Amino acid sequence: MGKLDGQTILVTGAAQGIGKAIAARLAKDGATVVVADINADGGAEAAAEIGNGALAIQCDISDADSVAALFDAIEAQAGTVDTLVNNASIVPFIAWDEVDLAHWNTIIATNLTGTFMATRQATDRMRAKGVQGRVINISSNTIFAGTPNMAAYVAAKAGVVGLTRALATELGQYGIAINAVTPGLIESAGVKASPHNEAFEFVEMLQALKGKGQPEHIADVVAFLASDDARWITGQTLNVDAGMIRH
Ligand SMILES: NC(=O)c1ccc[n+]([C@@H]2O[C@H](COP(=O)([O-])OP(=O)(O)OC[C@H]3O[C@@H](n4cnc5c(N)ncnc54)[C@H](O)[C@@H]3O)[C@@H](O)[C@H]2O)c1
Repeated sequence: MGKLDGQTILVTGAAQGIGKAIAARLAKDGATVVVADINADGGAEAAAEIGNGALAIQCDISDADSVAALFDAIEAQAGTVDTLVNNASIVPFIAWDEVDLAHWNTIIATNLTGTFMATRQATDRMRAKGVQGRVINISSNTIFAGTPNMAAYVAAKAGVVGLTRALATELGQYGIAINAVTPGLIESAGVKASPHNEAFEFVEMLQALKGKGQPEHIADVVAFLASDDARWITGQTLNVDAGMIRH
């Protein structure tokens, strides 16, 4: 028996990186996972690799119609979402002098508004069906560190933590729990292909535990938060960064 047997879990941005590792871990624990990603081919490949009945549904999380269609498709194919993992994000590397309104709007639309729209869809449907579900938001430890070259991203991810706290208060009466995870630097596909890949040595110096953060370090924590073991936790932000930030 897996800890997540019988759960339908949606992981956004699960075609690669941390999202893919989360989806794989949750499927291993018994969940039927939905891999939703803007990258249709990558999502389909990830779902096939993950198995255990994993579904791939293409979705642009920054587009309201696309998000609504995603939830309609899940409802038809796998029933109501029991746990939503808001993971899809753009991870930019851009100096403040180059942060213009277009960049700001793009990052907020995907990294904050996308989380809002998916959460709205998921929790409305949970309430309609009496599902005492979970929402797990992937934020970032950059909100504590004030990491440079990603100001709009840091602002959006801090917004995600604010949303987590507010919704925990509002939705607790329905038995819906909502928590956030703030990963440190993780060697994901996205990071490997970006200038962030140069930061591992510096970040490791700041970590209490040594080594390079891997997607599975985050996936294992999300599996805990999705399980019944975490049933008494809501409104929290769990920092998962080998002790880089200590608070
Ligand atoms: N990697 C890190 O160091 C790190 C650290 C802290 C937080 N995070 C967070 O973890 C999560 C995953 O990061 P990652 O490093 O695996 O990223 P990644 O770039 O490797 O993967 C992101 C995935 O999201 C998808 N995506 C992007 N825009 C989308 C959209 N509009 N709609 C649907 N899907 C979309 C991409 O196609 C991709 O599959 C993100 O929320 C990120 O902010 C990552």
